Amino acid sequence: MTDAATKPTPRPSSLPAKPRIYSGIQPTGRPHLGNDLGAIRNYVALQDRYEAIYCIVDYHALTHVHDPEVLRRQTLEMAAALIALGLDPKRCTVFVQSHRPEVTELCWLFNTVTPVGWLQRTPTYKEKRANQPEDVNHGLLTYPVLQAADIALPKASLVPIGKDQAPHLELTREIVRAFNARYGETFPEPKAVYTEAPVVLGTDGVKKMSKSIGNTIEVLAEPDMIRKQVMSMMTDTQRILRTDPGRPQVCNVCQLHRHFGDDYEEIWEGERTARAGCVDTKKLLAQRIIDHYAPARETYRELMADPVRLRGILDEGAERIRPIAEATMAEVRERMGLR
Ligand code: TRP
Repeated sequence: MTDAATKPTPRPSSLPAKPRIYSGIQPTGRPHLGNDLGAIRNYVALQDRYEAIYCIVDYHALTHVHDPEVLRRQTLEMAAALIALGLDPKRCTVFVQSHRPEVTELCWLFNTVTPVGWLQRTPTYKEKRANQPEDVNHGLLTYPVLQAADIALPKASLVPIGKDQAPHLELTREIVRAFNARYGETFPEPKAVYTEAPVVLGTDGVKKMSKSIGNTIEVLAEPDMIRKQVMSMMTDTQRILRTDPGRPQVCNVCQLHRHFGDDYEEIWEGERTARAGCVDTKKLLAQRIIDHYAPARETYRELMADPVRLRGILDEGAERIRPIAEATMAEVRERMGLR
């Protein structure tokens, strides 16, 4: 056999050895239980199987956050929390979107291959326009183009996201396809990796847990706050008397017990037989959440108390993306006839 046949095919230098994944997370400040169970836990699990890049998307946030101090603080809080909850800067890359401004250039270039109609038809754009009618800024329209640029800049092939992001990922694929068709094969068409995580309902037991609704359980907050939030939760609304049997399948407190400890079936049985009351079950849940997040709470506190260290970690993340971003941009400018 010749040498060439036995040697593995060398890969083009721009392609990573492990598949590269990319995901963006909004700088909403200290994350809540829904953020952790719905996304962050999954990010943590993926960091060893893939070359993982996680970005705190502050440019995207400017489409709805207009206070510079709030944006800066929430960006740092999210960064500290991601690390506290298990993203290890040695095993993955964590960076802040605006620390790598090449992405805005790529966004502009992508704008020129993206028909306006695609953006106007995007369901998230329609929702946002309805939610903030007094501020329908152009950033809202072009939001998915920036997201496409995020993913394409490091040529990521997989994108872990929740189902709500499906239309954005579909657009990313279309934009990349349009670029490749016009300028030659440049970017992989990224695939979504849907997180299997449940939709976590808020303390109201009705709507998805969300900071803007104010129905959150703030897992990194002080224990008293967590207790207060858990004790305020709606349970089975048909269980009125303490002696009424509970219905764990419709009780949000019981549902959340699934994620904390492996004895949730026993807890459910206690509810069904009215051995346990809602208050008992909530107290237990609050304590378990407090205990589960105790180490993360401590790391979070340390990082927030040491902004120099935190910024150092984020600077390093942005530096790690630099050569990747520069290589992509050089290729793109060349293909498009710039420079
Ligand atoms: N739009 C995403 C959200 O609101 C955040 C995001 C921005 C993103 N850029 C991304 C997610 C790239 C995945 C990949 O959650």
